[in-house]
Amino acid sequence: MLIDGHGRKVDYLRVSVTERCNFRCQYCMPDKPFSWVPRENLLSFEELFLFIKAAMDEGITKVRITGGEPLLREGLDKFVGMIYKHNNDVDLALTTNGYLLKQTAQKLKDAGLKRLNISLDSLKPEIAQKIAQKNVLKDVLEGIETALKVGLKVKINMVPLKGINDDEIVDILDFCKARGIEVRYIEYMENALASTEIKGLLGKEILDKVKEKYVINKVGREGASPSFSYLTDDGYKFGLIDPHKHDFCEDCNRIRLTAEGNLIPCLYFDEAMSIKEAVKEGDVPKAVEVLRQVLKDKPEKNRWDEDDNESSARAFYETGG
Ligand code: 5AD
Ligand code: SF4
Repeated sequence: MLIDGHGRKVDYLRVSVTERCNFRCQYCMPDKPFSWVPRENLLSFEELFLFIKAAMDEGITKVRITGGEPLLREGLDKFVGMIYKHNNDVDLALTTNGYLLKQTAQKLKDAGLKRLNISLDSLKPEIAQKIAQKNVLKDVLEGIETALKVGLKVKINMVPLKGINDDEIVDILDFCKARGIEVRYIEYMENALASTEIKGLLGKEILDKVKEKYVINKVGREGASPSFSYLTDDGYKFGLIDPHKHDFCEDCNRIRLTAEGNLIPCLYFDEAMSIKEAVKEGDVPKAVEVLRQVLKDKPEKNRWDEDDNESSARAFYETGG
């Protein structure tokens, strides 16, 4: 079992396989980065897997593959297969913008993937284009339908932004409800690389929009999930991720690994330790030692609530949000 310096059990590893992305979302990567991490600096799937395997053996039971856009990395289904074959009880999930799912969903499902989180910020082509800075909606919607057809469990992520897509909060809920899938609203997390033009809605404001159509009841947090669940009067469950509140961090169960091999204890902070050398040398005990050190130093809480201008210096596309 893995326990951090604040007594929290850590059983969830998020692995970013690339920081590259085919979208330029306003809240994440509005501009192409000045330079990408050179491909030769990325860990291979075999190297990433060496660490994941060790982490699973130490107590990680849930692995989520993220990016950037993870489907840009070739052979991702093989990587999924490696993890699944090592332990087919692992709760294996992927976060994607959905754009390439039409071509990849079946292969991912066959390799052992169970669940997908797909970003969907608007159902209007021009608004989706405004947010992602690319005409994406048609492909994303086809990607969602394909994922459902091949039997993957889908959740939708929406980041409500003032004056951009906040009039679609109920529409996205109804879209998901009609398909029997859960929507999770995510408060915009201020970060240094995001567009300075945007402002997110706080959790309460998001819920107020839902209340314009539905009576809602609190359900609660499921396990250590940062998402708080609500139920509409007609029995539809949806989630809200509100990192601007502190109770969000109290039972944080996660750590993050970047494609370059940096282990990151908290999304908000810049601190990281590298497992690169250890996995390049095939030294599993050394990698586990770094993992234990990172857990020992894991911060107690983020700082998104501290004042209005507080923002993280970390690039979300490096760590997968
Ligand atoms: N604030 C909130 N959510 C974000 N995401 C990416 N950047 C941010 C941000 N700054 C979300 C996206 C996507 C997931 C990977 O992370 O909506 O669904
Ligand atoms: Fe790409 Fe996801 Fe960032 Fe959008 S939020 S730019 S889809 S990594």
